[in-house]
Amino acid sequence: MNERYRKSVDLFVRAARVIPEGIYGHKNPGFLLPGESPYYAARASGSRYWDVDGNEYLDFLCGYGPVILGHNHPQVEEAVRRQMDKGIAFNHPGEPMVELAERLVGLISVADWALFAKNGSDVTTWAIRVAREHTGRKKVVMVRGTYHGAHAWCSAYPAGVLPEERANVLKMDWNHPEQLERLVEEHRGEIAAVIMTPYHHPTYAAQVMPAEGYWDSIRRICDREGIVLILDDIRAGFRLDVHGSHEVFGIEPDLVCYAKSIGNGHPIAVAVGREEFREAAEAVFISGTFWFSSVEMVAALTTLRILEETDAIAEMARLGRRLKEGLEELGAAHGFRVTVSGPPALPYLTFDDDPDLYHMQAFCREAIARGVFFHPHHNWFICAAHTDADIDRALEVADAAFAAVREGE
Ligand SMILES: Cc1ncc(COP(=O)(O)O)c(C=O)c1O
Repeated sequence: MNERYRKSVDLFVRAARVIPEGIYGHKNPGFLLPGESPYYAARASGSRYWDVDGNEYLDFLCGYGPVILGHNHPQVEEAVRRQMDKGIAFNHPGEPMVELAERLVGLISVADWALFAKNGSDVTTWAIRVAREHTGRKKVVMVRGTYHGAHAWCSAYPAGVLPEERANVLKMDWNHPEQLERLVEEHRGEIAAVIMTPYHHPTYAAQVMPAEGYWDSIRRICDREGIVLILDDIRAGFRLDVHGSHEVFGIEPDLVCYAKSIGNGHPIAVAVGREEFREAAEAVFISGTFWFSSVEMVAALTTLRILEETDAIAEMARLGRRLKEGLEELGAAHGFRVTVSGPPALPYLTFDDDPDLYHMQAFCREAIARGVFFHPHHNWFICAAHTDADIDRALEVADAAFAAVREGE
């Protein structure tokens, strides 16, 4: 174990006695670099955070995506504090919920209504139920290797899940519309929904953009077969376009799910949809004790306003392009074939010849040890608080990390 992470590890040992797995889910150290990365964070500001050992990091994970304007953004937090001063758990929703729905209906081309929850999984699962209610059909098609949340129908893990809960989920590969054609033939009249992300962002692998004509083919098949097209824009939503990622890729979804970045870290998820799905949306019960809080609505209203009024989205793309070009050049200079995939604001580096991920893990371990947090197995995020100086620093550290990986071979 690296002494630099001593307090993290000590906390984890305590946690393991009182919390299943110590840290469960995607924040489990096993998904990162056990013993070679922090497990616990203490505070954050702008583009940086500090772990419990006091180590500082330039943050390229941004809480796995929610932080879009920067940690602890002054305007968002001021709006949140003002709202919290009024109380937090009411018997009724507040005016900000209506305002936020109006804002989203104005912003998003396919939104005639909007509905709010807390986590992405809440809305992907609900959207599937809406599609089933609307079509009277059972089956759902998803892309292999895509994460839509932790619920039974889509969880990547089998423990505790009944085969019956997955019996109506069919799988196809990304960028293979002919596989959807085949599934439609095999299950004609039975498929309620196709659910996909705007581009493919699997874990442990490079990201893949949609091939030319892919989305047109998917839409055409859905139209022909009466299938509801659900876009899961939870990871990329609002980072590529304040009107939603479907605008970037020319997608015409029926229902869209958002979460992560819309509240700049405050817990809020959103489903929006076209008018023709309103009746089913009204029929499918959805609720949660904490889902109506005005605090998160206000965080989202403020975040969206800032994204609309500033050039934050263009800046994230510009900085992401600098990072991508810099990393690819540095990788080549050190004799590695590396690729930075995905949209510039959500980049992910992979070594082209790295089947056991040894190089990627060593590279991230070396970067993290030098104060730049790159995740080895999950795509990265640029936020609006990143600066050119941050990219310079990240590339300086990447240079040293590539050299260390070369030396360690
Ligand atoms: C594309 C996508 N869909 C759904 C989810 C689930 O969201 P949550 O973790 O908020 O339930 C995630 C979370 O990473 C995601 O990236």
